[in-house]
Amino acid sequence: MSPEIRRAAEILRAGGLVAFPTETVYGLGADASSAAAVARLYAAKGRPADHPVILHFATAEAAFAFARDIPPGARELAGRFWPGPLTLVLRRSQKAKDFVTGGQDSVGLRVPSHPVAQALLREFGDAVAAPSANEFGNLSPTTAQHVRADLADKVDLVLEGGPSEVGIESTIVDLSGAEVILLRPGRISRDEIEKLLDVKVKSADRSSPRHSGGLERHYAPKTPARLVASHALDAEIARLGLDVAVLAFSKPDERVDTWIRMPKDPKAFAQRLYAALRELDDAGCGAILIESPPDTAEWDAVRDRLQRASR
Ligand code: TXA
Ligand code: MG
Repeated sequence: MSPEIRRAAEILRAGGLVAFPTETVYGLGADASSAAAVARLYAAKGRPADHPVILHFATAEAAFAFARDIPPGARELAGRFWPGPLTLVLRRSQKAKDFVTGGQDSVGLRVPSHPVAQALLREFGDAVAAPSANEFGNLSPTTAQHVRADLADKVDLVLEGGPSEVGIESTIVDLSGAEVILLRPGRISRDEIEKLLDVKVKSADRSSPRHSGGLERHYAPKTPARLVASHALDAEIARLGLDVAVLAFSKPDERVDTWIRMPKDPKAFAQRLYAALRELDDAGCGAILIESPPDTAEWDAVRDRLQRASR
């Protein structure tokens, strides 16, 4: 065990905040059994106190101790995708306190695969509450540098773990009710879940449990961003008098200073997405234009984040 991981676990035990890498995005961790630590966590993020937070564990067994009435489908998903970029929302057991569930009868559980996250969770040995380590409403961090830029002195320690491999937040599947509901698309697709469970997975609607990803402005850059169809991109750039930063598949227009060309593979796109949006935001232009991705299922998770970013 590295001295840094030991120190990180000690900080968590003392009620402090530790930012740590996961394969999806960086998380801001606190002891999930301490009301005071979780209150500090919410204050650091500027997050409303009634929002539920995901609990992180080293193993599925530890995670399931926080749930009750666990349906077979949850164990199947865990067996296939944990450790990994999947969050399960299940009915909570008494171990999951009101201050991590937003008072709801369900709890979000995840077992991340990143080796630094795994080391921290094993050393700490109990549930770590961790939202993404960004200011509430801002883009999620995919590097330790992003965390420091957002939260700076509000965090006691930032563990370094390189750029996040998935790049967007975990897929969230709600199995707390009669139906299986996809609350947030991610690297693990609806199709993979449907195939494994042999059920139809419904989409989140207004009657689904509250989840902050469902709020209007979320995952958003500060510069107004807009999705533009490929064929309309040129005209839109001209209309805005070139005062734009562009995220596109196509080759750069030389007259535009900030143009990030993105990969045509959805996984590679997702991996680079938040760092790219931060860079475009920092350009300080009047607008960010985003070339729309293809209208196919493999782009669902990326399209979801782009739509949120451009509201
Ligand atoms: O990839 C991820 O999931 C990252 C890393 C750090 O694990 N975490 C993350 O946390 O994205 P956060 O708090 O930024 O987003 C978690 C989402 C929120 O929309 C929250 O409302 C929802 O999960 N959530 C948590 N518990 C829930 C519950 N019991 N019912 C419904 N939604 C829940
Ligand atoms: Mg978040």
